[in-house]
Amino acid sequence: MTEKHFKTKYQKEHTVTISEEDCIKFLKNLPDGSVDVIVTDPAYSGMNNKLKLGKGRIVGKYNNKGQEDSKWFSEFHDTEENYELFLSECKRVLNKSRGHIYIMFDSFSLLSLGHIVRKYFDVKNILVWDKVNVGMGHYFRRRHEFVLFATNGNTSKIKNHSFPDVWRIKRIHQSKYPTQKPVEVFEVMISASAKPGYTICDPFLGSGSSAIASIKNNCNFIGCDISNKSFSLSKSRIENFIKNGKDELQEKSACLDNETNFWK
Ligand SMILES: C[S@@+](CC[C@H](N)C(=O)[O-])C[C@H]1O[C@@H](n2cnc3c(N)ncnc32)[C@H](O)[C@@H]1O
Repeated sequence: MTEKHFKTKYQKEHTVTISEEDCIKFLKNLPDGSVDVIVTDPAYSGMNNKLKLGKGRIVGKYNNKGQEDSKWFSEFHDTEENYELFLSECKRVLNKSRGHIYIMFDSFSLLSLGHIVRKYFDVKNILVWDKVNVGMGHYFRRRHEFVLFATNGNTSKIKNHSFPDVWRIKRIHQSKYPTQKPVEVFEVMISASAKPGYTICDPFLGSGSSAIASIKNNCNFIGCDISNKSFSLSKSRIENFIKNGKDELQEKSACLDNETNFWK
């Protein structure tokens, strides 16, 4: 695989940098304490191993024929050993006096891997993203994901006391990138934990939603993804958003019309 890097500036002083590479390799190249907030949504393989729906298949689009078993995308090898390596690198790159981390989990990976996060960080909350509309599921149909919020051994607070631990934000339908999350989910995390000029990091970039949320909050951003599709879609999305303020992968707001946005 040829690695690709893209760096751009906005509002003169802020930077956005993305690369096409493996998360561990990418984190290893970042200096100690160089990141203020990590917001990330890893591709867990555990869920797919345990969640065989239908005739032993994962429900979803298998449309990348010939690639990686025709799955949606490469999965991070989430053995406990690899996950510990990932978390230890997150800890090293995160600022010691104000560093916060948000890691997204499905129910299965929260049970199998979530407890390990406590070895590295002070877990403060298990947050729930309520997607408003139900998705797949053979028993109870899934409508939520978890977000684990932790600090890097410091006592730095979030912005204020108005943030609930359940976030009602509509899921994205018919996305151009599999498992694309609404920008608003990352906006909640960033507005709770960051100030303008902070550096936000996402080592599982996907469609670049976390980068767009960082730009909206006047933060610097660094991220990576192992997939070329992720890199090229995110690059174009970031460039166009900076140029004309239009988000080409999420045209509509994912907020509910009748609710005030608690994070604004
Ligand atoms: C759940 S998706 C992220 C979706 C993203 N939050 C969004 O809103 O579009 C997980 C991503 O992890 C990437 N990935 C899988 N293994 C990886 C690895 N070893 N290093 C970096 N990225 C990886 C996949 O290509 C996929 O884009």
